Amino acid sequence: MNLIETKIQNLLTEFHQQLTSATTLEALEHVRVQFLGRNGQISEFVKDIKNFSPEDKKLWGGKFNQLKQESEQAFQDRLIILQQAHLQQLELAQKSFDVTSYVPNQARGSLHPCTLIVQKVENVFISMGYQIADGPELETDFYNFEALNIAPNHPARDMQDTFWVNLPGQLMRTQTSNVQIHTLQNQEPPVAILAPGRVYRSEATDASHDFVFKQFEGLLVGKDISMANLLATMQACLQAIFEKERLNIRVRPGFFPFVEPGVEIDMQCPFCEQGCSVCKRSCWIELCGAGLVHPNVLKAVGVDSQIYSGFAFGFGLTRLVMLYYGISDIRLLHSSKISFLEQF
Ligand code: FA5
Repeated sequence: MNLIETKIQNLLTEFHQQLTSATTLEALEHVRVQFLGRNGQISEFVKDIKNFSPEDKKLWGGKFNQLKQESEQAFQDRLIILQQAHLQQLELAQKSFDVTSYVPNQARGSLHPCTLIVQKVENVFISMGYQIADGPELETDFYNFEALNIAPNHPARDMQDTFWVNLPGQLMRTQTSNVQIHTLQNQEPPVAILAPGRVYRSEATDASHDFVFKQFEGLLVGKDISMANLLATMQACLQAIFEKERLNIRVRPGFFPFVEPGVEIDMQCPFCEQGCSVCKRSCWIELCGAGLVHPNVLKAVGVDSQIYSGFAFGFGLTRLVMLYYGISDIRLLHSSKISFLEQF
């Protein structure tokens, strides 16, 4: 083998060795510069042909070209392999994670305690065949008072301090009882509805009074509905809400213009047997107003009170939530305090 051929072989061997030992793109770039760059060993060697005699040029031209092409091809092949490996490494780095690394404490959302109780009460009444009803919070005098047998200038209007708005005859509803009227106007008896919702009263706030709070209204109108049906329904719903096999209720006379007779219902304290701080040592807790729907209310919505009768009740839903979860201040319920809300 002559000198030129040996030189070509040595160059190729060294070039291939260097290519194989380059395991990163950076190292491969060094190899390229060292052999194929402008002053690289192979480039310099190939350039030298211009100094050959015409016969030698003819003789070696093909070999030199082959050396150049083969080495460039080998470089390209190695480049593709290392680029693919690099991409795989990047993907792996994105996919993998360090199980020991610090994870910031992520705040988890939860349902508001009022929502939890609304869902619980709704489920109890749905299981008894009731429908969930809704009514407007911006209301007219007719639905909030007049149709509920509370005439203009009647002293019963003072029982609930009203937020009037700058629109003639309009107010923020003071009670969910307005839903009784909307429902009976739109639906023929028999009617059985439960209407949870927000109500507004122009009252000073303290730990147990708010100016906006939630109530839920119950209404059953059909044939031969009596006080016995009301009391049985109240007892059954309270037993289901507080998950007690037996929870007694007691009834006191109460005045609400839209029911006759009207009653206030108390329930046996679900938390004690001999008196505790929740029931103020009395073993009874005031719960709601209720009664048989007044014939004047049925008349106002065109229902014949000779054929139909009904009962209605109105719970302070917010107070029920406080009772259920042992919350001491009603204002916490719309305070948006995370430390309070994350307990539920
Ligand atoms: C009514 O609102 C009647 N509509 C209830 C009713 C319906 C009676 C159907 C008969 C038939 P009252 O004003 O008492 O009644 O309010 C009902 C409940 O709302 C109260 O028992 C109490 O739990 C709650 N409540 C009243 N005022 C406030 C207040 N400022 N903050 C929180 N809860 C209140």
